[in-house]
Amino acid sequence: MNDDSIEVHGAHVYDATGAISEPIYLSATYRHPGFRQSTGYDYGRCANPTRAVLEKTLAMLERGERAWGVASGMAAVNIVLMLLAPGDHVVFGSDLYGGTVRLANEVYRRYGIEASYVDTSRLDCVEAALRPETKLVFIETPSNPMMLVSDIGAIAALAHARGALLAVDNTFLSPHFQKPLTLGADIVVHSGTKYLCGHNDVIAGFLVVREAASELAQRIDRLIVSSGPMLSSMDAWLMLRSLKTLGVRVERQAANALAIASWLRTQPRVQAVYYPGLPDHPDHALQERQATGSGGMVSFKVESAALAQAMLGRVSLISFAESLGGVETLLTYPRVQTHAEMPAELLRETGLDDTLLRLSVGIEDVQDLISDLDRALHA
Ligand SMILES: Cc1ncc(COP(=O)(O)O)c(C=O)c1O
Repeated sequence: MNDDSIEVHGAHVYDATGAISEPIYLSATYRHPGFRQSTGYDYGRCANPTRAVLEKTLAMLERGERAWGVASGMAAVNIVLMLLAPGDHVVFGSDLYGGTVRLANEVYRRYGIEASYVDTSRLDCVEAALRPETKLVFIETPSNPMMLVSDIGAIAALAHARGALLAVDNTFLSPHFQKPLTLGADIVVHSGTKYLCGHNDVIAGFLVVREAASELAQRIDRLIVSSGPMLSSMDAWLMLRSLKTLGVRVERQAANALAIASWLRTQPRVQAVYYPGLPDHPDHALQERQATGSGGMVSFKVESAALAQAMLGRVSLISFAESLGGVETLLTYPRVQTHAEMPAELLRETGLDDTLLRLSVGIEDVQDLISDLDRALHA
């Protein structure tokens, strides 16, 4: 099956009723047929039939064999960091979701896990940051919010040569556009809250690995069953419903994003536009090589912080709100929202300042969106 079909049908198997929509299994526990016998479902923390179909569908889309649905993107990132032990070192991209940085710096540093933050769009920086005790490289590509593109295959090779794993947060592109496992990554994580959900009505997260029988899959499974962050069956069903339209949503969002990015570039009050789908983005060629689309996220800098802040109150069809990936267009001010707690030196390094705005482009009529931005820029 190709992606458009996997998104609609996924791992759904027709039961005796012929139900097209997946049943929602709310049972917390399951009756055993007899001693040492199991239906495959014993207790909801370990497995749930509705969640299992969602997990299999995600694994199919990411071209992995095993996926886990958890209660948030941060729960998924947390499981990745739980693979580490005191004395281990992680190399993170320097431009990434602020919550990931907070988790590493405020929680895992206390447990003796050290983190370095480098520009992973530069392979020499990744190589220089690797140490004998580096066990994990963790990247977002494109990164949040500066839209830096990192070479997944080349970084996987660097990490593997030192015995480290590569985890890719694939939230920004979704598996419809990018499949990091096929490029050499070991773990894919998602904030399912974003494109995979697409309607701003579920908080969810995912982890996916290549081989179901691998030691890595077994370790992740133990961590999840032991710590209990799994997705509820109601939310699993909502996510299955969302995935059916993933392709049509993200294709439209990417087309709208390219049109808006191209328009923003013509605006004198806009100083810079960051979108990897623009032919003059420094890593456009790499983006084209490793992904089939550039996604719906566009960041841009305006001429002053005052203008950026004024625009937040002037947009009307577009909402000033945190988050991304939904069908509704959102305008975010990363400096005080998603990246408010980012250490100052990382902000300086990436150039994330108070003139930067981030658009999560939705599926509305693109001319309506441009008119809204035009009014907000020039009111
Ligand atoms: C790239 C990225 N990863 C992870 C997360 C965390 O996901 P969640 O909010 O679902 O916990 C976010 C949230 O904004 C994100 O943008």
